[in-house]
Amino acid sequence: MKFEISTKPLTDIKAQSLIVGLFEDGQLTETEVALDMATKGLLSELAADKTFFSKENDVIRFHRPDGLNVSELIVVGLGKIENFDDTVFEKAFQTALAATPSQHVAVSVLDWLAVGRTVEWTVMHMARLALTQHEPIKLEKVNENSPRKVTLLVNKNTETVKDAFYLGEAIGHAVNEAKYLGNLPPNVCTPSYLGEVAKSYKKLKGVTVTVHDEKAIEKIGMHAFLAVARGSEVKPRFIELHYAGGKKNDAPICFVGKGITFDAGGICLKAKQRIAEMKYDMCGAATVLAVFHACASMKLPLNIIALIPACENLPDGNAYRPADVIDTLAGLTVEIANTDAEGRLVMCDAMTYSARFEPEALIDVATLTGAVGTALGDHFTGLFVNDPMLCGTLETAADVAIDPVWTLPFNGAHFKSRLKSNIADCANTGPAGGAGASVAATFLAQFVPEDTSWAHLDIAATAYVGGKLPHSTGRPVGLLLTWLHQMAHARA
Ligand code: BES
Ligand code: MN
Ligand code: ZN
Repeated sequence: MKFEISTKPLTDIKAQSLIVGLFEDGQLTETEVALDMATKGLLSELAADKTFFSKENDVIRFHRPDGLNVSELIVVGLGKIENFDDTVFEKAFQTALAATPSQHVAVSVLDWLAVGRTVEWTVMHMARLALTQHEPIKLEKVNENSPRKVTLLVNKNTETVKDAFYLGEAIGHAVNEAKYLGNLPPNVCTPSYLGEVAKSYKKLKGVTVTVHDEKAIEKIGMHAFLAVARGSEVKPRFIELHYAGGKKNDAPICFVGKGITFDAGGICLKAKQRIAEMKYDMCGAATVLAVFHACASMKLPLNIIALIPACENLPDGNAYRPADVIDTLAGLTVEIANTDAEGRLVMCDAMTYSARFEPEALIDVATLTGAVGTALGDHFTGLFVNDPMLCGTLETAADVAIDPVWTLPFNGAHFKSRLKSNIADCANTGPAGGAGASVAATFLAQFVPEDTSWAHLDIAATAYVGGKLPHSTGRPVGLLLTWLHQMAHARA
């Protein structure tokens, strides 16, 4: 897909298709008034005729409209002006893009400004939405799927508009990559496959990649991670990526992504109904890989480290058992109450490992608990954070990125008591009692390096859509890239 930012008036633009948005109350924007005049009242007449065109997402295509330089004019309904928000914007723009197979689409950005949103914001999302229009069945094929050119029409092509466009483009590509990896079958997307994906980023400037094999993981002392990995013939990998885009002494931002390439539950085997969905248990890893890739490609002036513990959770003869007591890299012993609470065991060792880099912030991303979906549904990612500043910047980024989060509690005495063990320092999960997502976060909190800002994103209900035609969503790539982009700006 090719993009172009242009400041030409709507009446002059040469393209196959021109997309404009029209509000239900018929109020024309400034740019639309000019278009209306050039077309002798096409838009105002349309807006007045409610039998013909009114609702949100109604689409009308005019072939060879008089007075314009385009082969078709596509008008899409934006609904009532007072209801026009991020969601309506996204849906209407997607509908308009899908309405035509045309190879060169121009869109008038200024007609689509939601309340409180800027030209920059709209440009960013239009680039993202255009790139993520088709499912990335084969990553190499994403661009071939849609060889179209998209022209974004703005009033001024400023540096901030360009910057917003680059971010939107980066998010679009990264979302496609995360979706692609998430959708791969578990016999293809193995821990070593994820390692190869990571190694492919080595060609980018400032990037170094180490893929630790089982022996190396043992040497590091990641016993909790290894306990989980032991249940499968497929060997684990601990993937470590460094991107040095910032100053030498800038503390890095560290990401940890859950890379369970298939979660059968281990000896506490899952029921067959939805077990196939557990190929998505590496969506945290997919997010972290795609975000890392995008940062290095954008040359963000930050130091970033990505850590991915990748393995399967299977019930082999050598698998870890309920009632086992295992060691962790941090030295805490853990009694296994449930082998299906494996995510926190692989994550905790990677989090401990991050301490050696003294990160400025540690952000972990994991499809950790079914309970987060019970608490929040599939709209909000569960956010657990120990630092109000980090909480604020993440919430702002989530709002800008249309990638929502909701903060949940953890670490209170109540949650801590749920992890008590008679035989070890703690258990990996508690007896039934609800709040499973908070209990899991409370477990992880024990492994946050001292004095470190930490955020945990539980994406079990937002990283993929289950059911009949399951697919990965690419969340929370948008949130994290937007946050990093804002961090980079704050730094500059
Ligand atoms: N990978 C699952 C979490 C999950 C559940 C992701 C549903 C996506 C959809 C995780 O490893 C798991 O099995 N968690 C258990 C924890 C429980 C045993 C304390 C769960 O949520 O049931
Ligand atoms: Mn599990
Ligand atoms: Zn899992």
